[in-house]
Order: sequence, then structure tokens, then C-alpha cells
Amino acid sequence: MSLPKTITIDGPAASGKSTLGKRIADSLGYLFFDTGVMYRAVTWIALSRDIDINMKHLIEQLAEKIDIDVRPTTIDDGRVADILADGEDITWQIRNPEVDAAVSQVSTYPGVRKALSSQQRRIGLRGKVVMVGRDIGTIVLPGAEFKIYLDASVEERAKRRYSECMARGEMVKYKEILESMRRRDQIDSTRDIAPLKPARDAIILDSDRLSADQVYEQSLILMEESTKKISH
Ligand code: DC
Repeated sequence: MSLPKTITIDGPAASGKSTLGKRIADSLGYLFFDTGVMYRAVTWIALSRDIDINMKHLIEQLAEKIDIDVRPTTIDDGRVADILADGEDITWQIRNPEVDAAVSQVSTYPGVRKALSSQQRRIGLRGKVVMVGRDIGTIVLPGAEFKIYLDASVEERAKRRYSECMARGEMVKYKEILESMRRRDQIDSTRDIAPLKPARDAIILDSDRLSADQVYEQSLILMEESTKKISH
């Protein structure tokens, strides 16, 4: 089968996009690129420099200036990539609850979206990439050959995020994660620019009752079917 050059996976927080994306990318020898880390990096740098998250212009300036890099892992601690901001390793800092609580707001700012999505598009158009996010199939790479929209209920997603945090030894409360996730869903799907929604030509997969293995297998079957349709 001729493989799609670019694969996009969009969907809400903790729907399993990164697990699926990494696995597909590894199996095809493609680059895996989780675009959420860029929004998280801007948010973390703003918080660590005591920049008020409500100061839209300052955050937009920061997004334009900051050098975000995603590189192969150098430490074996469960990470899928090293995330660097201006050379500093911030791989785990960007996953903390303060970032979770602020990142959706940061990602509503037009200047932030413009700065980050143009970098994402440049990388995506090189091809051989699995790109994961909220607006990849709709805005960043609308011409991608294969698009998945991975969904799951907010309760299931909060449960997954809770287990991940506990496994890393972080003391978190399920209820707080659930509330934070509901707030993020609301902001991500109702913002004016590039709201979270499936692209018209995306295949929608609900992962609520599926294991990670089943989601992966289903995706490969769907990719094969869609490739056959295109080549006929
Ligand atoms: O996928 P994630 O949870 O790491 O994403 C963090 C936030 O970044 C999410 O709340 C919305 C934003 N985001 C976005 O607006 N567009 C993307 N392509 C990726 C993430």
C-alpha cells in the first residue's frame, strides 16, 4: 500500500492521541510531533518568569521569541522526546498541573497560534510525519492524506490522566483533574480561532471502550481502507 505522507491526529486532552501517534510513527519510521508541547512550553516559560497569563501581548511576544525544540530522548525516564525551551530541558515541567490549568487560555491568543502553527506547518509539509494536536487536520495541515479524530468521554480521559500522574508519583485528586479537563475542553472547543473539532474528512474513533492496542489496530485498518479508496 502507498502510505499517506502526512497523518494528523486531533482530539481532546488525554484521548490517547500521543500514544497512538507515537506508535504509528514508530511503525512507519515517521517523525512523531506532538504540537501540544509547544503551547505548554510557552505557558511554562510565562509561569516561570512570573508573566501574568492574562497579559495577551506579553505572551504573544514570548511565543514569537522563544526557541522550542523537540529532540530524541537523552534520558530514559518514560519521556517520548526531550522538550527544550531556549536550550533548557522542560520535558516534565510542561506536564505540571499549573500548566494544565493555564495552557488552554494561552492557546486562545491569536499571536501565539500564528507563531506556533507556522512552525508546525513548516515541519509537517516536509512529510513522513504524524502530527498530533487540536487543529492539525483542520488548520495546520488541511491537505493531510489521513486524518484521525480520537475522542473519549471526559470521565475516561480524567481517569487516564489521574493514573499517569500517580504512576509518576504525583499526588493528585481525580476530581480536580476532571474539573480541570472539563474547563480545558470548554475553552479548546469554543475559542474563536482554530477550535477543537473534527476535520470534515477525518475518521472519528471513540476510544472509551477500546484498549490502546485496539485503537492502534483499528487505526491501521482504517488507514489501509482509506489508502485503497484514494488509489482507486
Ligand atoms: O494535547 P495537550 O493536552 O498537550 O495540549 C495542551 C493545550 O494546547 C490544549 O489545551 C490546547 C492547546 N493546543 C492547541 O490549541 N492546538 C494544538 N494543535 C495543540 C494543543
